[in-house]
Amino acid sequence: MMNEKDKQHTGSLKDADIVIFGGLGDLAIRKILPALFHRLQAGQINKNSKVYAISRSKKSQSEFKALLKEKLGHSLSGQNPKEIDQIINMCIYVQADLTEDSALSELKGYLRDDKDIVRVFYFSTPSSIFGSITKNLSADNLINDQSRVVLEKPLGYDSASSKIINDQISEFFDESQIFRIDHYLGKETVQNLMVLRFANDLYENAWNSQNIENVQITVAEELGVGTRGDYYDKYGALLDMIQNHLLQLLCLVAMEPPSVLEADNVRDEKLKVLKSLRLFDEKMVKDQTVKAQYTRGDIQGESVLSYLEDINQFSSETDTFVAIRATIDNWRWAGVPFYLRTGKRMSKRHSEIVINFKNVPHNIFPDQKPIVNNKLVISLQPEERIELVQTVKVPGPGGYRYQPTSLVLDYSSSFTDRFPEAYERLIMDVIRGNQTLFMRKDEVEASWDWVDSITEQWKRAKVKNKLYNAGTSGPGDDVLIDGHEWNE
Ligand code: BG6
Repeated sequence: MMNEKDKQHTGSLKDADIVIFGGLGDLAIRKILPALFHRLQAGQINKNSKVYAISRSKKSQSEFKALLKEKLGHSLSGQNPKEIDQIINMCIYVQADLTEDSALSELKGYLRDDKDIVRVFYFSTPSSIFGSITKNLSADNLINDQSRVVLEKPLGYDSASSKIINDQISEFFDESQIFRIDHYLGKETVQNLMVLRFANDLYENAWNSQNIENVQITVAEELGVGTRGDYYDKYGALLDMIQNHLLQLLCLVAMEPPSVLEADNVRDEKLKVLKSLRLFDEKMVKDQTVKAQYTRGDIQGESVLSYLEDINQFSSETDTFVAIRATIDNWRWAGVPFYLRTGKRMSKRHSEIVINFKNVPHNIFPDQKPIVNNKLVISLQPEERIELVQTVKVPGPGGYRYQPTSLVLDYSSSFTDRFPEAYERLIMDVIRGNQTLFMRKDEVEASWDWVDSITEQWKRAKVKNKLYNAGTSGPGDDVLIDGHEWNE
């Protein structure tokens, strides 16, 4: 049943034909289909909607449904099996070899031609074949005015390759039909960043270089590369995480308030931030970046293998950890370092944004113990919480003793409803046609320009990976730079 809150965000229910390329892949099974399941249960997706899973292997419908039953049973464990059957019954398997002519003619037979039915093409495959999927869709006349295309990251591996892919898609889809997804933008606390900044004058007034000393953005994962070694070894942490997720977080922290909450207004402001990022030269890349790779170690008492063992290779220069001091050359952020850090096989999974405020200009208290800076810690995962650290007096009979103390908003105790996962929100936005949380072409290109300046200078300066033991917080000497310390 749809509850009141869901209804408010629904508008009229849209019927959709959702086509997933890479329909048997990990992302489809772990994220896309479970997201559709939850929105179906919430009554936001029309029950007449259909999901077409496209893949190369030969499978009968009954083999496909049996496979889904088994796999979704894991992804949706704890859910009512009868309700899982509802989503499975909406799914149809379509075998297609995109190297053949009329590869999508079977799909064509299924798709409904009706201007009230939204047609979503979800490209959950390597971006190297996005161009050929699009050509096939066009050759079989499957792109209509109600069509939208969802592109998974990373789009290419550098600025030039991403331009080629964007151009191939733009030949057949208008920019208003293209949804470049970054699931970090669908996370609850990430969205809350906008509300926190632009609905609280208290923060917005202090949100600048006069009051903020530095900003730290950390996305640490406990997981290694798992079965994705082939993909990961070509990308590494800089391309897999920084180019998209961490840069998007940086944009939301640093952007100016848009005049209205509409897709292009928000994206214009993010683009200005990306274009203000200082590009790296050889000296900067040596002083202001660290790249590293994990070796064997222990995570929560369990021994884990090194990266090279995980990918079954003797050598690799791929980075599984990156720390960067980013500089935004604009009026608001002049002189405020943005420290970005991400890594696999770290001691624990935690992602956070820390706003470190400047210290008081003069300490009037008699014992002169250093006063700790105020800081705002926005935790994205695993817990969703906001913590404001401030200095308060320790109660006592006389004198002034003080200590840092936190004001904490813990989402799970303040809001007890289930939070929709990022993919649920984003897929609903695609169906409704709201592009606010999706990246525009020029944003992707600007973020590649900045990332390319790092990759190119790493090559030129022959920067080698440092090593860190799995289960630690990185190589240790990631000299956060200028004597500051990471928030731990
Ligand atoms: C993906 C990366 O985009 O994000 C993965 O390709 C990474 O390597 C994942 O593990 C992290 O997402 P989350 O939501 O678990 O933080």
